[in-house]
Amino acid sequence: MATKKSVGSLTEADLKGKRVFVRVDLNVPLDDNFNITDDTRIRAAVPTIKYLIGYGAKVILASHLGRPKGVMPKFSLKPLVPRLSELLGVEVKMANDCIGEEVVKLVSELPAGGVLLLENVRFYKEEEKNDPDFAKKLASLADLYVNDAFGTAHRAHASTEGVAKYLKPSVAGFLTQKYLAEFDTNFNRFSILNLFNQYPTVIESLLEKVDLLLLGGGMIFTFYKAQGHAVGSSLVEEDKLDLATSLMEKAKAKGVSLLLPSDVVAADKFAADANSKVVPASGIPDGWMGLDIGPDSIKSFSEALDTTKTIIWNGPMGVFEFDKFAAGTEAIAKKLAELSGKGVTTIIGGGDSVAAVEKVGLAEKMSHISTGGGASLELLEGKQLPGVLALDDA
Ligand code: 3PG
Repeated sequence: MATKKSVGSLTEADLKGKRVFVRVDLNVPLDDNFNITDDTRIRAAVPTIKYLIGYGAKVILASHLGRPKGVMPKFSLKPLVPRLSELLGVEVKMANDCIGEEVVKLVSELPAGGVLLLENVRFYKEEEKNDPDFAKKLASLADLYVNDAFGTAHRAHASTEGVAKYLKPSVAGFLTQKYLAEFDTNFNRFSILNLFNQYPTVIESLLEKVDLLLLGGGMIFTFYKAQGHAVGSSLVEEDKLDLATSLMEKAKAKGVSLLLPSDVVAADKFAADANSKVVPASGIPDGWMGLDIGPDSIKSFSEALDTTKTIIWNGPMGVFEFDKFAAGTEAIAKKLAELSGKGVTTIIGGGDSVAAVEKVGLAEKMSHISTGGGASLELLEGKQLPGVLALDDA
């Protein structure tokens, strides 16, 4: 991918008093009380914002949170304001919308060095449709554009791609730049540990470059069911059963060894205080659901990982938010940390895996931590990211 112009090339003369539209990826996990359970993505956005306010720019922050269908208050970005303000050392203003009169007024009131956070851009369906009129409305708020939302750069949406057409210069933020540099290092062959919810779109082309594919997490039950196993009340994507079958066949044809867990920790309900037992993956009893991989799987996965040189980990092994079902994810995180120490390249891609390694305090031990799972995988596949392509060349 051609080198893109960096925010670091903009000087005080370019920025002082200018309105800068900054697309960040503040898609952080929130608990039921709207507490942020992992702030990695907010912290990752700080260097670019601080650089801009340091030169007296007026920063307009845009992000999505989750996948809302229309305006849904539980996907509001408002709960992020205190933490963002704390990390930036400035009082971040919050808009109730991302376009419209109120937003225009708030932007006009922004002082040099001020920061305004717009409400979730995905409250408008036009965002994901990359609607040109919507992109123009977003662009009309600002003088120039910075894309620092690496985690969303694989989406051609209005705030990640469309807006770049109407603002000059359009540059890459420090986070985007960092990941582009790290992931452009030609990882020719690698092993993949889990694919979270990315598998329908990415797995086929990835198979060309993959030696070993270990699957854990919620997607495995679709694969079990496709093989005719009893899955109890585990999560199954019925519409992906054929896809799972064809992927297993393709992996076999390409000589990729695809490993599914041999046992799972099953629960009688989806709750932290559920009763649990280890059962063979080939027969989850009626009324029980798999929420983690079992001890035999941890052992066989660890042994398989011993044979790898480059590992990409995308997604936890189980419901690690509940202590009872965190053992698989924690054991794998420890295994990856151990392998990093032996010179294996360990790439942690995606919010949930990052949250998992943060939780066990092992993030520092990994070779690369990416806050964007889908975007990193697409880059590793050799795809171009629309949010990056739209930016000015260096
Ligand atoms: C992510 O969580 O991977 C990014 O924020 C992108 O989110 P999306 O998959 O909903 O586009």
